[in-house]
Parts: sequence; C-alpha cells; structure tokens
Amino acid sequence: MHTIDTISHLRDYLWQAKLEHKVIAFVPTMGNLHEGHLQLIDRALEEADLVVASIFVNPLQFGPREDFNGYPRTFMADQEKLMSRGCHVLFTPTVDEMYPDTKISSTIVKVPHLDHLLCGATRPGHFTGVATVVSKLFGIVQPDVAIFGLKDFQQFLVIQQMTSDLCLPVRIIGAAIARAENGLALSSRNGYLSTSELQQAAQLQASLVAARLALESGNADMQTIEEEAQQALEGAGFRRDYFTICRQQDLQPATKEDKQLAIVAAAYLGGARLIDNIRFTLP
Ligand code: PAF
Repeated sequence: MHTIDTISHLRDYLWQAKLEHKVIAFVPTMGNLHEGHLQLIDRALEEADLVVASIFVNPLQFGPREDFNGYPRTFMADQEKLMSRGCHVLFTPTVDEMYPDTKISSTIVKVPHLDHLLCGATRPGHFTGVATVVSKLFGIVQPDVAIFGLKDFQQFLVIQQMTSDLCLPVRIIGAAIARAENGLALSSRNGYLSTSELQQAAQLQASLVAARLALESGNADMQTIEEEAQQALEGAGFRRDYFTICRQQDLQPATKEDKQLAIVAAAYLGGARLIDNIRFTLP
C-alpha cells in the first residue's frame, strides 16, 4: 500500500492508473478505523481495480464545542488495518494541504434541503463541512465510485444529492451497517463508551426494531411510537436527541401514505452521541 500525503503526489500516482483506464474506488474516512470501515474497503475491492482510502479529520465538519481536538487519531493501527485488508493507496493530507490559505474553506458546498434536519439541527454546519470536504476529495481523487456506510444515512443522502447536483461522475454506493453482536452499530465514537455503556447502547437498535415492528403490525400512530422509543432509550440511560420516522428519500416526517420509510435516531450515552437508523418498505 502506498501512503501519500500531498495532493500533487496523489495525482501523479493516480495518473498512470487513469491512463490504463483502471476503475478507481474511494473510501473517505476520518481514521480510527473499525470493522465497519474495513467492510467498505472490501466492497470497494469488489467494485474497482484500485482502491484509495483517505484519513482526514476534517475541522470544517466539527462545531466549536465538538470533539475535533479529542477525536482519536490512530494512524499506525489504521495504516496496518488498511494494508492487511488489501487497500492500494492511503491518502493522509494535513489540514494545511486541504485548506491551505485559511485553515477553512472559502468555497463551501451546501445541501440546503437536507443539512438543517435531524443531525443538522443538533450540529449546525456539520453537513456543509462534510459536503465541502467530500467534494474536494472527489476533485483530488477523481474516483469512479465511492463507498459510504449507511449508518450515517443523512450524510449518505447529502453526498448523493451533492454529487448529483454538481454533476460529478462518481457512483455513490451505500454499504450496510456493520454491527457488534449485541446490535450496536460500529462507530469510532463507541470508543468513548465504558464496558457497561457498550451493553446499554444495544437499546438504540432495539428501539429502532421495535418501532419498525409496530409500524409493520399496522400501528400508524407515529408520534406515540416515537415517544415510546424515546422513553425506552431514557430507561436504558440515554439522553434524548431525536427519534424520527421519516420518508426515506428526503428525511421529511413520514405520513400514513408513505411506504418507503427510514427511522433515524440519535441519542447521548455517557460521553458519546450515537446515531443509528433502519430503512424498510411497508407492504
Ligand atoms: O463519515 C466520515 O467519516 C466523514 O464524515 C467523511 C465522509 C470521511 C467526511 O469527512
């Protein structure tokens, strides 16, 4: 695996692959890699001749009181994991390399109909930071295909919309959520949880499954289903953020007529804010 930290060296390296018409798949990450990320690499290897991963903790997507400084940086372990999984190229730019003049971006990419909802309401500016850095990374790597985990379903929709609106020739693939044995979605932020909190955290997926079963059994009282889920989460030690039954395509609140649904949730446990979702079609 080649590890490259400048845009110009990466472009030089990828130039040959592009001349040879190799299919390039891209997996952007912020590092602190777990099995979920590595499954994105597996998927990328199925799709392409050359797999590029990036590790960049993007300051633009963190709020002033969020964990940018404390975000775990585990470069050596990440490099090892990517190498053993068969990744071909690792791009690890510095903040100066990505945002040379100002440490932030003067051009931003905003996806207005999605970026203020749900996680965007709790984390103002977050999705603008994500859309901006991902469009920059797409410009640098120029992949044919990019793989994102569906745990961040709102992020996935933002990136899909941004790619389509900016006419970027990148196919976006959403990969299934990787879970621990107790159902907890794998996340870099699970590292903030104690052993007992890791057990309690299983309630997040359990609440999503219970809400789905209620809807599938014909219960159409969405407000009550959401409130019961919030209470179950509080009972397991979580603090509320949101638990919402929405339309899958645009995350607007679902009505009784909607069939393609996503139940999306975020909640605080100990020092972590966890997110998860479940997507399905009602008969
Ligand atoms: O999901 C992430 O790890 C980040 O939001 C991403 C897509 C790498 C952009 O910084």
